[in-house]
Amino acid sequence: MPLDAADAASVVVVVDLFCGIGGFSEGARQAGASVALAVDSWRAALDAHASRHPEAEHWCEELGGDVAEFAGRVRAAVPTGCRLHLHRSPPCQQLSSLNPGGDRVEGMRLVTWYLDVVDALRPHSWTMEQVPHPAVLRLLTERRAPFGVLRFDEFGVPTARRRVIAGTVDFDALPRREAPPAARVLAGLEDMAGGFTRLTGGRVDVAGGGGYVSRSLDLVSSTVTRRFPCLYDPEARRSKMLRPRSLLALQSFPRGYLDAAAPGTEDARLMIGNAVSPALARALMTAVCGGERAIM
Ligand SMILES: C[S@@+](CC[C@H](N)C(=O)[O-])C[C@H]1O[C@@H](n2cnc3c(N)ncnc32)[C@H](O)[C@@H]1O
Repeated sequence: MPLDAADAASVVVVVDLFCGIGGFSEGARQAGASVALAVDSWRAALDAHASRHPEAEHWCEELGGDVAEFAGRVRAAVPTGCRLHLHRSPPCQQLSSLNPGGDRVEGMRLVTWYLDVVDALRPHSWTMEQVPHPAVLRLLTERRAPFGVLRFDEFGVPTARRRVIAGTVDFDALPRREAPPAARVLAGLEDMAGGFTRLTGGRVDVAGGGGYVSRSLDLVSSTVTRRFPCLYDPEARRSKMLRPRSLLALQSFPRGYLDAAAPGTEDARLMIGNAVSPALARALMTAVCGGERAIM
């Protein structure tokens, strides 16, 4: 339904680039923003996004090409007069310390591409999420882009994830919210009987052997990735993978988030591990929306 000018000016409209299954979009929706456009090159992730945000336009395409051409198409797709918020979380594998073989040049090219899109579109507000690689922090400093390195558990997300978030948000002023321990989040979702009393974030290799790093279920979980955390039995030294619904809960998604899209288990794990936690996105977008009227 077209908005009149007064309504339009009070609405925050989100364009979510590299949208995945929509962790950022979900948090933005909860904060009262309206998702107008979502773009990703992975069809299955985009379909999952569309199942939760049918109101948005969805473009399945490879991002990173001609900036002016792309900015022109985005401008044409967004309702005029609205307050535009641009977000992007490009793939972090290329720049992650967990992936020493990542293509750093390609990772940095997509970061630069996005900052160029921000310059071309000049949205009312913008955000970007990335692993805190030194090259990313250096580029943000050079481009005079404000940023903060945020711990997600300070925003109610029950994981130890830490990311650089750049953009037009006062990061220090964001309200902090305590995250629940993993045990409370997983209760009713996983069977912890049989000695599975801890979580593991994976094996470490050390001289003379190595073993699983584990942490108490009374703490927040280690970062959610495709394979971890797992439940861990320290006596028997065995681990057990969590179900996708548990990974969703640890990432602060609402229950049943992927039910309508029903991706295969392996795809679901990757999509969930990739996601921006909705609780963090909600905190960012509540600051952006500033109590504006929500479109439901
Ligand atoms: C970190 S994930 C995005 C997570 C998402 N923001 C969320 O909150 O759920 C990165 C996404 O970028 C997509 N991607 C990677 N390279 C791309 C490219 N060149 N163009 C478009 N999408 C790309 C992947 O398919 C993946 O879904």
